[in-house]
Amino acid sequence: MDNRPIGMFDSGVGGITVFQEVRKKLPNEDIIYIGDTASFPYGSKSKETIIELTKKRIEDLIQKNVKLIVIACGTATSQALEEVKKLYDVPIIGIIEPTIEYLQKKNYHNIGVIATTGTIRSKGWQKAINDKIPNCLIQAKACPLLAPMAEEGWIENEIAKLTVHEYMKEMKNVEALILGCTHYPLFRELIVSELSSNVEVINTGEMVSNAVELYIQEHNLKNMKNSEANYQIYLTDTECNFIEVAKILLKDEDIVRHIQKI
Ligand code: DGL
Repeated sequence: MDNRPIGMFDSGVGGITVFQEVRKKLPNEDIIYIGDTASFPYGSKSKETIIELTKKRIEDLIQKNVKLIVIACGTATSQALEEVKKLYDVPIIGIIEPTIEYLQKKNYHNIGVIATTGTIRSKGWQKAINDKIPNCLIQAKACPLLAPMAEEGWIENEIAKLTVHEYMKEMKNVEALILGCTHYPLFRELIVSELSSNVEVINTGEMVSNAVELYIQEHNLKNMKNSEANYQIYLTDTECNFIEVAKILLKDEDIVRHIQKI
């Protein structure tokens, strides 16, 4: 057993979609979340910058004595996970590997992925898919406007509809579509409405929560205390819309009331 919290971070509010899934699956686990709002967006930054920011957030979480870290961000997973895994002893789980394992089991051979510009440029998803599912057709599309719109809370207005439509119009005939940026589940309904009904839309948070559960079981890291789980959210800058959007996702006023600056 290990009663320390799970640590998580993203550039902003997107990782809360992962937080929600982990919280649902593991209701006894405490979670510390960092939204790196001072550095948002990650998606347009260079690989070197993403590695530096990822190191900083991991060190913040290590200081808070977490037992495991989830990189709740596609951009940081695709460009920095490999590098940071070599540097720290704490176990680190990203969003790509657990998702690919799921897709492999489903035997899909025509997969779409939408993500930030940095993620698509890194080919992180494309390489991981090709590695595990040879001969898979991949349609990859950068959607740089979606994460900033999500931070703004523009998730169902006319601009959101038009933007999603524009990005999705070439995404044809895929069997599954990976939401390769953790902000994108906020647009799930709009995205689904642009695709044929048989396309499976993949929220990476669900896959990550399964991977975290498995890791905790296999390594005997379960939180055994009887009290309610404790959640703490920190931001690197509080001059932002994080709280408003987090409220929509969390449906829980109490958690957002205690948001602090790190
Ligand atoms: N939520 C992020 C991701 O999964 C980052 C979006 C951004 O900061 O550009 O890629």
